Amino acid sequence: MKTLVTNIGQLVNTGDTVGQLHISTDQAFVIEDGFIGWVGDVTNAPKTETIIDAQGRVCIPGFVDSHSHLIFAGARHQEFSHRMAGEAYQAGGIKSTVSATRGATDQELRENAAKLVAELHASGITHFEIKSGYGLDLETEIRSLAIASEFTEDVTFLGAHVVPEGVARADYLNLVTGPMLDQATGLAKWIDVFCDDGAFTVEESRMVLEAGIAKGLRPRMHSNQLKNIGGIALAVELECASVDHCTDLSQADIDLLAQSSTVATFVPGAEFSTRASYPDVRPVIAAGVTVAIATDCNPGSSFTTSMPFCIAVAVRELHFSVDQALWAATKGGARALENELGSLAVGSRADFALLDAKSYIDLAYRPGVPIVSATYVAGQKVFERTSN
Ligand code: NIG
Ligand code: FE
Repeated sequence: MKTLVTNIGQLVNTGDTVGQLHISTDQAFVIEDGFIGWVGDVTNAPKTETIIDAQGRVCIPGFVDSHSHLIFAGARHQEFSHRMAGEAYQAGGIKSTVSATRGATDQELRENAAKLVAELHASGITHFEIKSGYGLDLETEIRSLAIASEFTEDVTFLGAHVVPEGVARADYLNLVTGPMLDQATGLAKWIDVFCDDGAFTVEESRMVLEAGIAKGLRPRMHSNQLKNIGGIALAVELECASVDHCTDLSQADIDLLAQSSTVATFVPGAEFSTRASYPDVRPVIAAGVTVAIATDCNPGSSFTTSMPFCIAVAVRELHFSVDQALWAATKGGARALENELGSLAVGSRADFALLDAKSYIDLAYRPGVPIVSATYVAGQKVFERTSN
């Protein structure tokens, strides 16, 4: 079946390099069996069985969210309020979500994740990764991964989020790199570790990632969020697909990343919600590092599912240009997940969002305004805003 998407006010496509966008006002495209079959001048558009009339709206590639923690129960309202009143964010806060998650049924975890996935779609996200990491015992980590795999093929084993209450550090590392990993292998594609102050050291992180790599998982890392303890060199050495947070990067870290294929993923929602200082992305992009923006949706440090919010903060506070931010939230996210999503080129999956806007610049220029009006995954509508 072929569908023509036409009457597009502004079609935004992504190029290969950070910040490269192709903008046109007279183009249409054809969806063929869920993929882009044709893109071109509207006057040359082929005849199709059906039409999607964009009604002059902006069309962008769907956002690719390469970092989320959607499998959890409970919430941390008080912790957030206290932080806004001046308390510091600590990795240990994770433990309160762990108790709630262990006590939740599969159905409760699934329903919470489904609600958040609907929110991702409403923010224009068409593909996303989900991590475990709030179980921290064998049973709950494995059921978290199984539930995550109901929503995405990009499932990440984050047993090494923190050492849980009541377990000796060495014993927990043995569990994460042994029996837990053995069962995670059939469910997860990625292995992740929180390499930071209050979580895991660089040497412990190496053990975790190397164990996962030996079992065929691809590595990615949380690093340089709370303190720079040297995680970037490990990420680059192990050829991690992505190193995420990057709140505190030294020039040496930037130089290492620039010589590697590891993506630096920024999560502005986390700095916002923990009242941390924002990183400056300008020297990172100037050095030639590939960058992504992700929501990091989780109940502790970044409880947002809104990619437009993350883009607006990235532009205002991290000094992304609007073009760089849009690229980082689409093509950059795809690079961080080692896939080919994030563009509307012929052959790509037909993942796109329609914006009720005159220009994609409204993503940052109109912060907090719900301009995403419809979202399509593989040519199928997964979200439509009925009123603003
Ligand atoms: O990505 N940094 C580590 N993990 C999460 C936060 C987890 C939590 O506070 O619950 C993050 O920000
Ligand atoms: Fe995270």
